[in-house]
Amino acid sequence: MSEERDKVEAVRASFVAEFASFADLGLDGASLADVESMLRELGEVKIRHTGKKSEIAATMKLIGRVAPDERSAFGQLVQSVEKEIAASIDSAEAQLQGFISDVRIELERMDVTLPGRRPGTGHLHLITILRQKIEDIFVSMGYAIENDREIETDYYNFDALNIPDGHPARESQDTFYTTAGFALRSQTSTVQIRAMERRGVPIRIIAPGKVYRRDTPDMTHVPMFHQIEGLCVDKGITMAHLKGTVTEWLKRLFGDDTVTRFRPSYFPFTEPSAEFDFSCFKCHGTGKFESDRCRPCKGSGWIELGGSGMVHPNVLRAVGVDPNVYSGFAFGFGLERMCAMMYALDDIRLMFDNDVRFLEQFR
Ligand code: DAH
Repeated sequence: MSEERDKVEAVRASFVAEFASFADLGLDGASLADVESMLRELGEVKIRHTGKKSEIAATMKLIGRVAPDERSAFGQLVQSVEKEIAASIDSAEAQLQGFISDVRIELERMDVTLPGRRPGTGHLHLITILRQKIEDIFVSMGYAIENDREIETDYYNFDALNIPDGHPARESQDTFYTTAGFALRSQTSTVQIRAMERRGVPIRIIAPGKVYRRDTPDMTHVPMFHQIEGLCVDKGITMAHLKGTVTEWLKRLFGDDTVTRFRPSYFPFTEPSAEFDFSCFKCHGTGKFESDRCRPCKGSGWIELGGSGMVHPNVLRAVGVDPNVYSGFAFGFGLERMCAMMYALDDIRLMFDNDVRFLEQFR
């Protein structure tokens, strides 16, 4: 049967040759893609060398040509080669599949004990926080909040506020001009006019918002900043109401022991006019803090905040209100300097640099 035996040996040799690259699998450092393609190649080897249509199965048909007393030995030979081929393929396949599944598991691994990543949440800007506190106080005192346009005509920014063309007050409030006849408002006092035109009197409003001035930025100036305007017009409103209202909201913001001071001043849209100060929130008016000169008030015990006064008759006339029947008070102040003082900031530009390391400190 030597011819048949040789045939079996030849089939085995051809398998061994084809299987050579899988015989000693060194998979260290192999990539997932490499190993997946090896597994596909091995699949083709398997199709050729196992199953009913394989070469080795075909050798079984030679058994009829083998002498009867050698048939059993021949049969065993074929079977053992068949087994050997199947075992080699199974073992290589198991190694490749093991490698692939290890890599996949590693790729999909999730360490549930790792701390989570907190989503970064934003928060309000410190100017907004202060504005909202002040709005809440005024709303609780029966005031409405007015929002109005930032692009204005000369009429609303100046004329209607008793600042005629050529008035020196126009010079100190130079602003940015847009299209002919329009400019960015230089003060929120414009809303006094807008609100009275819209709502008539009696009226109690505050108007927070942005204002613009042609200033070069420095530690205490920025070309865009925020003001809050207040206006109260009714029958019989006096300076006492002005003082009472300003004192009350400052007490609610800085504490019950806060006192206010009104100094005679001049504004075109009020008569009489006064600037108002409040007792320093840090030293409570003593001018000293921990035996040093108090910083926010520079040792004076007072903090200057804004302007105010009794609404000028010409302003009431501009909106068709009879100054013999109605009277009112108005006030206005800036938020940036107030914030700078409350948080001991040296430079108001910090509030507009958008550096989160700074902003995060004021939640
Ligand atoms: N509009 C003034 C300014 O920007 C501030 C001001 C002063 C507003 C007196 C008022 C007021 O309502 O009565 O400087």
